[in-house]
Amino acid sequence: MIIVCPKCSRKHNVSLDAVKPHIGSGKKLTATCKSCRHRFPVHVDALFAQAGQQEPPKTYKARKICVTLSKGGVGKTTTAVNLGSGLALAGYKVLLVDTDTQGQSAYILGRKPAAGLTELLTQELTPRECILEARKNLWLLGGGKSLAGVKRIIDRKSFGAEWTLSEAMSALDHEYDFIIMDTSPGWDQLIVNVLFYATEVLVPVALEIMPLHGLSEFLKSLGSIQKYRKEIQLKYIVPTFLDTRIKGPQNLYAQLKKLYPETICSPIRYNESLSEAPSFGKTIFEFAPGSTASADYRKLVRKVSLNENALL
Ligand SMILES: Nc1ncnc2c1ncn2[C@@H]1O[C@H](COP(=O)(O)OP(=O)(O)OP(=O)(O)O)[C@@H](O)[C@H]1O
Ligand SMILES: [Mg+2]
Repeated sequence: MIIVCPKCSRKHNVSLDAVKPHIGSGKKLTATCKSCRHRFPVHVDALFAQAGQQEPPKTYKARKICVTLSKGGVGKTTTAVNLGSGLALAGYKVLLVDTDTQGQSAYILGRKPAAGLTELLTQELTPRECILEARKNLWLLGGGKSLAGVKRIIDRKSFGAEWTLSEAMSALDHEYDFIIMDTSPGWDQLIVNVLFYATEVLVPVALEIMPLHGLSEFLKSLGSIQKYRKEIQLKYIVPTFLDTRIKGPQNLYAQLKKLYPETICSPIRYNESLSEAPSFGKTIFEFAPGSTASADYRKLVRKVSLNENALL
């Protein structure tokens, strides 16, 4: 790549490798002319384009969304997998991270990963070796039983334990549009790690009294994390298991809308296809594309991606 000194017009041949890390950053660098010592600004992206080279490689800044609620069985895994696969179908590059010892994300996608989050956290394998391409645009970092051992390793750390996941994932932040994380029920060190890594929280709430109580308990715990980590925000409350035939769930949905007007999303209706699809290793878009569940998750994809034309 040629850079010309604006003062003495001397041409300098600069190696592409030296400027590559700055391509796409939008930064202006300062160069010093070897001939006249004049210092001048260099706009790397403009030069790169001028040089007639191929487009600068796309750098991603992943949105890191965790799907979590301490209460079990509220639709966390179903939502993480179907939101992730919907975003992938809409053309986004998505990494689905299963931080649950149940390892159900892989099951729903009909995959058996040989390695996953455990090997990433223990650094036994490189990130690339831990990730499996599950569908077009959708990659999976699988969970499973072995994560129980990792939790013990994290627990024994004398300092910085809450950053373990962030450190392990840092190499992946710039490779995806979305990193969607599924979490286990309950509250443990791995969930704390997820909340120190993610920047957005999506909470699925089954429209029953108990999960609603679980939501307010969870928001207290989230508040205590936010004292130390300001970046983490509750972004989406997704009501699940809405049964439109009975009044109770509709009343609870109305209550949630009043309490959380900023974060409430359209509900995911109760639909049997959602519980049948996993045994076929299929997402809802593959198993029952015409179902109400597929329509509800497509709507969620539009809301989260801020793209009103996604999957229309
Ligand atoms: N809207 C829905 N309609 C009908 N069944 C659903 C719906 N959402 C999820 N399910 C089913 O309900 C069960 C629990 O859902 P899921 O596993 O997603 O919950 P979870 O919050 O991840 O549970 P856990 O806390 O154990 O991880 C599953 O069998 C799933 O297929
Ligand atoms: Mg789950």
